[in-house]
Order: sequence, then C-alpha cells, then structure tokens
Amino acid sequence: MVKKKTCVFISGHGSNLKNLILRSRDNSFPIDIKLIITNNKKAHGVIYAKKNSIPFIIINTKFRNYENRILQILKKNKISLLCLAGYMKILSKNFIKKFGKNIINIHPSLLPKFKGLNTFSRVLQKKEAKTGCTVHYVNNKLDSGHIIAQKSFFINSDDNEITLKQKTQSLEYKVFPEAIIKMFRNY
Ligand code: GRF
Repeated sequence: MVKKKTCVFISGHGSNLKNLILRSRDNSFPIDIKLIITNNKKAHGVIYAKKNSIPFIIINTKFRNYENRILQILKKNKISLLCLAGYMKILSKNFIKKFGKNIINIHPSLLPKFKGLNTFSRVLQKKEAKTGCTVHYVNNKLDSGHIIAQKSFFINSDDNEITLKQKTQSLEYKVFPEAIIKMFRNY
C-alpha cells in the first residue's frame, strides 16, 4: 500500500496530531504525516513535530497571500490529504478549490448539531442527552461537509464542560484514525 502523503494543520495543543503520528507508524495505516502546519507560533503541538522529526511550518496569517504560500508548500511536498486537527482558521473557498484534494476536519460535536465554537457549553445549555465528535470533509460552509465517521456518548447529570471535553477527546483519538481508514479502505 502506498501511503497518502499527509499534512496536519494545528493551532493548539495537538493531542489529535500526536495520536495520528502514533497511528501512522503502523505500516497498514493509510497515511504518512510528512508535514505539519500551524498558524500559531506558540502551538504546543509543534513539540510532536520536533519529537518525531516531522518538518513543520509556522504560517503568518497576517500576510495577504498566506494561503497561496501554503498551497505552494503542499504542492512541493506532494501532499494529497489535509487533516485539520484543531486548526482555528477557516480555509477560503479559493484554497479548498485550488487544493482540489481531500481535506478533513475533526469537530467536537455530533454534526450537524452544534457547528462552530463553544460546543460543550451549548450542548449543556440545550440539555442534550448525547454528544460526541465527527470527522467530515471540508467544504465551503463551516462544519458542513459530508460526514465520514462519528462517535457518541450519553451525557451524565454531573457532566460539565471539562468532563465533556475529556470524554469527547478520548473518542476523537478513536474516530479520527477510523475515519481515515474508512476513506482509503478501497485503495
Ligand atoms: C479537538 O477537540 C477538535 O475536535 C477541535 O479542536 C480540538 C483540538 O484538540 N477541532 P488538540 O489540539 O488535537 O488537542
């Protein structure tokens, strides 16, 4: 199996990145993480790039043509899959069109419910019975692309934003790799 050359975009902690790096060491896992891009020079997740000797690039999104620069870098590195793992910038329509290959995102809710930010507080406010996480293709509308995989759990009466985040993230570490396997299982 030829592994897909993958770039992971992060902005913060990078625990999903860490998990994907670990999984991609397995020969049967369909991707190889060749590059990490962050828009945040203080992103803790950069440590996983350094520890695993994976090249990383810090992008200054204040530059007008920063997305074109990213596209050039992706092309140069023959990247065919982008995984957004806590990347807090919205990719433009133009970027998505020009990249023209698979872009996937992990979101901490059961989409199509609770698109956007602050999912845990909104889930609690709405007294939802269940929550979870979703891996989906990225399209031009926020958190609206085709769903690849989801995992859910029941909310307890004593759950709060912190416990919901912990429970959701532990499911993210399962669903993100599962979604990637599902995408490429026929290759
Ligand atoms: C995850 O909870 C993901 O659902 C959301 O951002 C968070 C990133 O966490 N999009 P980490 O940086 O992978 O630890």
